[in-house]
Amino acid sequence: MNEYKLGKEKDFDHFPVPVEIESQPYYLLKNEFAYLLASRICPHMGYPVETEEGGLVCFLHGWTFDERTGICKEISHERLTTHPVFVRNGELIVWLKTDEKS
Ligand code: FES
Repeated sequence: MNEYKLGKEKDFDHFPVPVEIESQPYYLLKNEFAYLLASRICPHMGYPVETEEGGLVCFLHGWTFDERTGICKEISHERLTTHPVFVRNGELIVWLKTDEKS
């Protein structure tokens, strides 16, 4: 597991936020309970997930994902891969295994 610092909590004021860790694309999500780091890869067939009007959309087949949780809105048992994000001294921190990236 490696620790990655995403930046100061106060510097993020809108979500989802695209972030990269070691050249791998993610979205930083926020809900009423937690921050999450979500993959930008669609769980259906691996197409990139984009942001559109504040939401998360895979344009290949039209699946949409909740921008606070990464859960698929059309198929509730599908979701973007997410990782918990912790706040330490005002900084957002995520732990990832090397093989968990994206
Ligand atoms: S690959 Fe994303 S909906 Fe099919």
